[in-house]
Amino acid sequence: MRVAVLGAGAVGLTIAAKLSQVCDVHAVSRVKHVNAINKRGFILTGIWGEETFGFSSSDGIPVGETYDYVIITSKSTDTRQICEKFQDVIADTEVLSLQNGIGNEEIISEYTSRVIGGIIITGFEWRGDAMVNVSVEAGPVKLGRFSGGLDHNVRVLVDLFKEAGLNVSKTENIRGDIWGKTLYNCALNPLGAIMGVSYGELVNPYAWYIIEDVVHEVFLVAGSEGIRLQWDSPDEYLTFLHDVQVPSTALHHSSMYQDLKLGRRTEIDFINGAVVSIGSEHNILTPVNRTLCDLIRFRESLPEMKESAPEIK
Ligand SMILES: NC(=O)c1ccc[n+]([C@@H]2O[C@H](COP(=O)([O-])OP(=O)(O)OC[C@H]3O[C@@H](n4cnc5c(N)ncnc54)[C@H](OP(=O)(O)O)[C@@H]3O)[C@@H](O)[C@H]2O)c1
Repeated sequence: MRVAVLGAGAVGLTIAAKLSQVCDVHAVSRVKHVNAINKRGFILTGIWGEETFGFSSSDGIPVGETYDYVIITSKSTDTRQICEKFQDVIADTEVLSLQNGIGNEEIISEYTSRVIGGIIITGFEWRGDAMVNVSVEAGPVKLGRFSGGLDHNVRVLVDLFKEAGLNVSKTENIRGDIWGKTLYNCALNPLGAIMGVSYGELVNPYAWYIIEDVVHEVFLVAGSEGIRLQWDSPDEYLTFLHDVQVPSTALHHSSMYQDLKLGRRTEIDFINGAVVSIGSEHNILTPVNRTLCDLIRFRESLPEMKESAPEIK
């Protein structure tokens, strides 16, 4: 089995490292990460154990190589440029998106007809150029045929992830699961990033009032798209978020927070921004999600905020 991981950063290099124990893996990453991996291996720390891995990586695909599966793990903002750059490798190949947000699978569908959707609710944080710490895990990786169903090739990939020791399950409703993960991201990411706090702080009543409104709006938009969510009502989800998801990821800082700190563009357009734009197609107003988008875009446009963002402890 041969797997290529494109846009391999904190998530992608960790998944590549785990998969390298059970199949041939090539990770396409930035040069500084590739050099560090080649020098002393990829170092994993945290709740998935402490281990050093060696696997093939470079800033491109070796000439003439083909793969059984391609996994895209870039930020959503890079999905299109990755698909353009590696379109020969992607064409007619099974391509899994292991990213956050709504819209990645639709972009990938323009380059291959064999798209697998995925969600991952685990915290990956850089500790060095070839070192990632896994801090929290709120549930299994879920994989399913996009936009729905299950088939042999999805099951084979699920089995490969299992063999590599990853907590994974298969789903017939990956679109619902992606919206479910996006619900979590809409609720926690922008607010955590704007306030400079970890998820655990967001149960503060003032933050929670905002989160309640965000979740109600996302439910309305998901309903209008015919999405089958795992929860029957916003209140049922809010209880799950409060009692299960936030406690199990309490110490995590959103990647949006980390992006702002580094002066990078965030994935807001694929998270709350996607809800706002899909909502407007159905004439559904989403004022709270829209305000969060505006605040994040405002922060993105102020490079000097980078220096003043509070340190992650
Ligand atoms: N980190 C988490 O805890 C976590 C958890 C669950 C889901 N996610 C989601 O998973 C996705 C990946 O997150 P991440 O934290 O792993 O992001 P990341 O660390 O920024 O990794 C993405 C990497 O892709 C690289 N890249 C982009 N285009 C490339 C190209 N053409 N060739 C080679 N490398 C390229 C980026 O380099 P540059 O930065 O130089 O562009 C970056 O190093 C996101 O959608 C995120 O929301 C993250």
